[in-house]
Parts: sequence; structure tokens; C-alpha cells
Amino acid sequence: MKTPVHIAVSGAAGQISYSLLFRLVAGDLFGPEQPIILHLLEVSQAMHVLDGVVMELQDCASPLLYRIETTDDPRTAFKNADYVFLVGARPRGPGMERKDLLEVNAEIFSVQGKALNEVASRKVKVLVTGNPANTNALIALKNAPELGPENFSSMSRLDHNRAVSLLAEKCGVLTTDVKNMTVWGNHSTTQYPDLHHAKVKGQDALSLVERDWFVDEFISTVQQRGATVIKARGLSSAASAANAAIDQMRTWALDTPEGDWVSMGVLSDGSYAIERDLMYSFPVTVINGEVSIVKGLDISEFSMQRMKLSEAELKDERDAIRHLL
Ligand code: NAD
Ligand code: LMR
Repeated sequence: MKTPVHIAVSGAAGQISYSLLFRLVAGDLFGPEQPIILHLLEVSQAMHVLDGVVMELQDCASPLLYRIETTDDPRTAFKNADYVFLVGARPRGPGMERKDLLEVNAEIFSVQGKALNEVASRKVKVLVTGNPANTNALIALKNAPELGPENFSSMSRLDHNRAVSLLAEKCGVLTTDVKNMTVWGNHSTTQYPDLHHAKVKGQDALSLVERDWFVDEFISTVQQRGATVIKARGLSSAASAANAAIDQMRTWALDTPEGDWVSMGVLSDGSYAIERDLMYSFPVTVINGEVSIVKGLDISEFSMQRMKLSEAELKDERDAIRHLL
């Protein structure tokens, strides 16, 4: 067996974590040879619920789970953490936009950014899932000056997976036949799932589907999927969000496959004329754990318009929380 890795999860008594934690102890992140130590963070009022989750984790008798620590102090939770899932935040209800959560959730990420700065491993990978994920990730990053942009990403993988699955269904193929999917921008209704570079069994996706389907159906279905799930379940996506968090962290730690890329929220370096200092979802490759934005893709006017719309929304969000940066 290898040396255990330290994985911290915030919002550990919430619904996403109720799926995520059990996937982690089953070895779904790093496989059956990698032991883990879980650091579980909750607010003090939810510690009794977390106790129940811990009992259930113990009752799995997982050979990979070496230890569980629970706390309501971010500094304790993030101490020496190698991988951090920042899930803890309020979810939206029916009729809300994710950015309506900015005010209630932003403060959490400023406190947690500072704690990460103080105690986390200098190589830590911090994945922000709590909404609005991109701007929360920006807050955490800016409050951790001794860590770098390479230590932070915001979750776009759920949108990416939704887009892959929808295209695969439309083309009657398996999801593994779809490559080079891209979701640009914010994890919000302005996100732009883009088929211009996507391939299905090596063929251009846009040569296989009607343009009207792409413009009028595909884009809005992916953009609205979170709200559609909330309407159906009365609660926001949880198992699929946990699955996406594991997918994104696994890709970040173990690289993208040859010839493919994924969508990930990373700090913009000005690529594709997207303003620097925004957490923006780009197509990225990962090699040896290092994330690079895919450069040089042709961007049509149709695409650029949508990419800019999402950039504008992220700028507004950033303006609203500038005091926390
Ligand atoms: P939930 O309400 O079931 O759980 C959230 C948990 O976070 C609660 O147990 C709460 O006590 C805890 N929490 C709140 N403040 C905290 C703090 N300061 N420190 C530690 N824990 C804290 O919500 P959920 O359904 O698990 O969703 C969590 C977040 O993830 C929401 O903001 C939701 O909108 C977001 N989300 C994002 C995506 C994405 O793709 N980025 C997908 C689904 C959900
Ligand atoms: C999602 O995309 O399912 C989550 O961000 C939850 C939400 O509020 O839509």
C-alpha cells in the first residue's frame, strides 16, 4: 500500500458529500491501492449530522480509509491537506440564480482561502464546487497569496459531462466516443457549451447534428440543466455533482488522456481575449498534474459573443465581492 493522501471535504454533512465521501472511500478517486485520510469540515450546528455520516463511513469497513478527522475549524481541516473539495455552501432553490448565493456564500471562501494559505500542503489542489463556484474560487485564491493559481480550480466538469452525455445521446454513441468537448465561462446560465471543436468517433460533431439543434436546444439544455434538476427533485444535483468533482480532481491529479481535453474553471491568463483575473472555464489539458489552457482554437463570431457574455457576468460577480479579494 502507498502512503495515505490527506483529503479535506467541506460541507461534509451535506447532500453532495453524502455521495462524494462514499465514492472516496470506495477508491473512486485514486483506485484501490491508495489509502486516504479524510478531514471533514462542517459548521458547528451540523456536527451531530456529521457524526452520523462518520458512523456510516466506518460501517463501510473500507480497507482504504485509514482515519477520519472531523472539525468545525478550517485551519484544522486543511492542515497538510493534499486535495481539498470545497463543497460547503448554501445551494439555490427553485427560481434562484446561482449568483443570488454570492452574498451568503462569499465570506465562507475568504475565511477558507486564508486557512488554506496558512496550513495546506504547498502542492494542494483545491476544487471549488460551492456556488457561485467560479467567483468563490477566485475569492479563495486571492485570500491565499502564498499559494498560486495552479492550486485552485472551479468545477465545470458537471456542465462538461452534461454536454458530453447530451451529444452522445443525440448521435446514438457512447460517451467515450465524444472527445474535445468545451464549456466556456461561468458555471451559470451564461456558460457556453461549444460543439465547434467536439468530435464524435473522430468526426466533427457539427457535421453530425443540425445547426438548429446545437443553437436552440443543446446550448440551453446544458445551461438550464441545474435548474431543471432542482425543479424535478426539489433539491439541487448531488450525486452527479459528486461524480463530477471526482472526475475533475482525478483528471487534475492524473492527467488528460492523449488527444482529448476537459473543461475546467481556471484563472484566466488572457487567452481568447478573456480578461485576466477571472476564474473562467476553458478547455484544458493536464500533463504531470500541470494544467494548460488549450491555445489556438478558431473561435467564430457566434462563439465569441457567447464567451464574452459569460465573461461580463463574471466581471459583475467580481465587482460585487471586490472587498473580499
Ligand atoms: P447542502 O445544503 O446539502 O450541504 C451544504 C453543507 O455545507 C451543509 O451541511 C452546511 O452545513 C455546510 N456548510 C455551510 N457553510 C459551511 C462552512 N462555512 N464550512 C463548512 N461547511 C459549511 O448543499 P449541497 O447540495 O451539498 O450543495 C453544496 C454546494 O454545491 C451548493 O452551493 C450548491 O449550489 C453547489 N453545487 C455546485 C455544483 C457545481 O457544478 N459547481 C453542482 C451542484 C451543487
Ligand atoms: C448544478 O448545476 O446542478 C448546480 O450548480 C446546482 C444549481 O444550483 O444548479
